[in-house]
Amino acid sequence: MKLSFAKLAQPKSGALVLGVTEGGALGPLGQEIDTAAQGALSRAIAADSRFKGKAGQSLSLPAPLVDSKITSVILAGLGNAEEIKAASLEAFGGTAQAILAGTGDTDGAIALDLTLGEDQPSAEEAAARIAMGAKLRAYRFDKYRTTEKKEDKPALKKLAVLAADTDAAKEAFAPLNAVAEGVIFTRNLVSEPANVLYPETFAKACEELTELGVEVDVLGEKEMRKLGMGALLGVAMGSAKEPKLVVMSWNGGKKSEKPVAFIGKGVCFDSGGISIKPAGGMEDMKWDMGGAGVVAGLMKALAGRKAKVNVVGLCGLVENMPSGTAQRPGDVVTSMSGQTIEVINTDAEGRLVLCDVLHYCNERFKPKQMVDLATLTGAIIIALGSDHAGLFSNSDALAEGITKAGLATGEKVWRLPLNDSYDKQINSDIADMKNTGSREGGSITAAQFLQRFVGKTDWAHIDIAGVTWSKKDSATVPKGGSGFGVRLLDTYVAETFETSDDK
Ligand code: BES
Ligand code: MN
Ligand code: ZN
Repeated sequence: MKLSFAKLAQPKSGALVLGVTEGGALGPLGQEIDTAAQGALSRAIAADSRFKGKAGQSLSLPAPLVDSKITSVILAGLGNAEEIKAASLEAFGGTAQAILAGTGDTDGAIALDLTLGEDQPSAEEAAARIAMGAKLRAYRFDKYRTTEKKEDKPALKKLAVLAADTDAAKEAFAPLNAVAEGVIFTRNLVSEPANVLYPETFAKACEELTELGVEVDVLGEKEMRKLGMGALLGVAMGSAKEPKLVVMSWNGGKKSEKPVAFIGKGVCFDSGGISIKPAGGMEDMKWDMGGAGVVAGLMKALAGRKAKVNVVGLCGLVENMPSGTAQRPGDVVTSMSGQTIEVINTDAEGRLVLCDVLHYCNERFKPKQMVDLATLTGAIIIALGSDHAGLFSNSDALAEGITKAGLATGEKVWRLPLNDSYDKQINSDIADMKNTGSREGGSITAAQFLQRFVGKTDWAHIDIAGVTWSKKDSATVPKGGSGFGVRLLDTYVAETFETSDDK
């Protein structure tokens, strides 16, 4: 689908989605079309007792104009005009894209012909947000569908967002487009099956980011052995695939400034290892590299919009497999930090990978803050479902910043506690700690484990197990890999490190 901006005027052909607010009258373009259609739009609004212009509502008028090639006009709700924010405009754009994709037309347009209040998005910002929503919703991972019938594919080829000032809209869209590209990069990684995406090919995909000015360094097994990453390497032992550690840097800030660090769990397939998982749903474990996928997509987003900040992104990439060379329950491994770990359950592998990457990151970069993302525990899905990711942090300011960014982007997080009594639960009889607690508070004891490797550095851990894969379509996220975390952390970085007084 080709996305563009065009003049805010009656289109000559194709399908048109026109935004309508709750209880609001038609705007100037709506009125113009209504007049040309001899009042068909206002008659339809009056005749439909349900359509109130609420968000998510729509009213479709096929071919309402005589002597016009416009195939349909669809009125779509935006809700209360005064409450419209960037996120509601994105949701409108996404919903409008899905409506247009359902019309069967190859050409579509989206128009919003109303002026919002002073503290609300400007006209060009609104057009850009609508385009962002449409782009995110149009995503489809269909590279392996070789026999799909044409009529099953969305017909929509061209989508124009109508704007009073198309140049200003394009300019406002440029940074948003970069972020959307980052989200799509993540979704692609998350969607790829594990026979195609494994540590080596994942690292190759990250190397593409050099084109945007990201420095990419890939460590192999030998280098990691030298560094003493016994915890990460223990997980990789059962796999025929070599583990990799990808280190990406984007230097958009001042030379002297310490970087902000993002660390991702990249378990390209999690069979559970010797503590093997049940067969049902095991295919989902191809997306156990979701945290690393977000880190890669975030680097793409930040570099793509030339963010004025220094950032490092690290992806710990392994495959967790059972085999004659796999690590066993009861094994004791020595992490890079020197702390020893009794491996009670080989399926609690994510923390074993992350602990070495967190320690390495802290030592090498002395970052301002570290934020890790991981599809770490099934327990977080029991606690929070798919509406919020779990947030853990040793810094209130950091936790608040991420929480705020979650509310702004719709990628919401919910903070859970950390404390000594949870920490005690992972003490081991034979080593410094064990890699599982009991079933109780499973997401918290996992976070406590990670905290033992971050020293005094400000750190946050985001458990994204419940939000990495969407089971159903939503306004801007089609079913499948969501890319959850890219927009959240892009906004967090922008709001925390790129505000004007910081420049
Ligand atoms: N990758 C899983 C967690 C997961 C489960 C992610 C479901 C997405 C969907 C993780 O490695 C795991 O297996 N965790 C175990 C930990 C347990 C053995 C302490 C779990 O949650 O059951
Ligand atoms: Mn596991
Ligand atoms: Zn896992």
